[in-house]
Amino acid sequence: MQRLTNKRILLGITGGIAAYKTAELVRALVTHGAQVRVVMTDGAKEFITPLTLQALSGNPVHHSLLDPEAEAGMGHIELAKWADFILVAPASANFIARMTSGMGNDLLTTLCLASIAPLAIAPAMNQAMWADEITQNNLKQLQSLKPVQIWGPDQGEQACGDVGPGRMLEPLELARRLAEQFERKVLSGKTITITAGPTREAIDPVRYISNHSSGKMGFSLARAAQEAGAKVNLISGPVHLPTPERVHRTNVESAQNMLDAVMAVLPETDIFIGAAAVADYRPADVCDQKIKKNQDDMHIHLIKNPDIIATVAAQDNRPFCVGFAAETQDVVAYARGKLEKKKLNMVVANDVSSQHIGFNSDDNAIIIIDQDASTEYSQASKYVLSQKIIEHIAAKLPKDI
Ligand code: C5P
Repeated sequence: MQRLTNKRILLGITGGIAAYKTAELVRALVTHGAQVRVVMTDGAKEFITPLTLQALSGNPVHHSLLDPEAEAGMGHIELAKWADFILVAPASANFIARMTSGMGNDLLTTLCLASIAPLAIAPAMNQAMWADEITQNNLKQLQSLKPVQIWGPDQGEQACGDVGPGRMLEPLELARRLAEQFERKVLSGKTITITAGPTREAIDPVRYISNHSSGKMGFSLARAAQEAGAKVNLISGPVHLPTPERVHRTNVESAQNMLDAVMAVLPETDIFIGAAAVADYRPADVCDQKIKKNQDDMHIHLIKNPDIIATVAAQDNRPFCVGFAAETQDVVAYARGKLEKKKLNMVVANDVSSQHIGFNSDDNAIIIIDQDASTEYSQASKYVLSQKIIEHIAAKLPKDI
């Protein structure tokens, strides 16, 4: 079910006893990396509480079309656009009838009408209701009007004691079918953590030591990794860049903050890329008060910062580690030295002696170096090069990661 990573699933729940099983469905989807938002009809709330689904999905549950407060949070049109896929499970006979006649008379039917996302329904009802000609006609008509997939129902014993078709498909089967709707990509199911931008090392409350890193390379990598199917943690120093879509961003200031943020997500990380320009040194003491200019000269005693990528690479169960080497001479030789010294799996080297590419620019030119080979890519946008780097990583990942 790795294809569910980062996918946005809108789960509509209607009133039926099978609604209680959606707790397990939401849990399975979230466990496999999907983002889930739940929409409930009034009937559904009689069978399972919104609080349960809110806790399991990690998102507020939506139920009212006419609630100004809810609309101010994520309005129904926004929600309709948000979804990659809509599943209505269980789908009652009532919901099917309302959908078929285009009645946007509650939030769920309105969303199904307003969204261009693919739609599947998992009918669940008493076997006689399912067999009834009106229900069957409604389903035929609905399918003739809209490309909707109908998943189930299953045969078997029903909550009311009847036996026959009408049971909702099991939650794990629904989750599996949802996963099948998405393409498998090279990093599906993988979690990648990327550091980006500069760090700021405080001297006093208003001054700091930093560098000109723009963060563009790390942010491009985050976008390319997300598009390759990965779950992405982007840990960034202070930069002026928007967060790429579906990327989880943590803002940090100093190298020590960055290390702490990296270590917090390390247990779930399969791949680590250190694209940040981490300050090598920091002031040994940070003054509590603004330093006054009452001396003709001043000295700041600097101490070494932790090496984040080397710390990550030294862990047991370490992720696949990719570092950057910005050099001004003997690029390949220095980069290979870094690969060995820091025990990395791959190093992306670039020549920062040119003013037109590299630091702070939209373009770069790189050489990807690993144990076996070095591959050169001439000047291109950081985004295009990021896609190449991600392809290289995917090709080199050990099978058990
Ligand atoms: O040692 P140097 O700074 O040249 O190494 C560059 C690589 O090491 C980059 O991937 C950078 O993000 C990472 N690095 C780090 N922590 C440091 C210094 C560098 O993670 N303190």
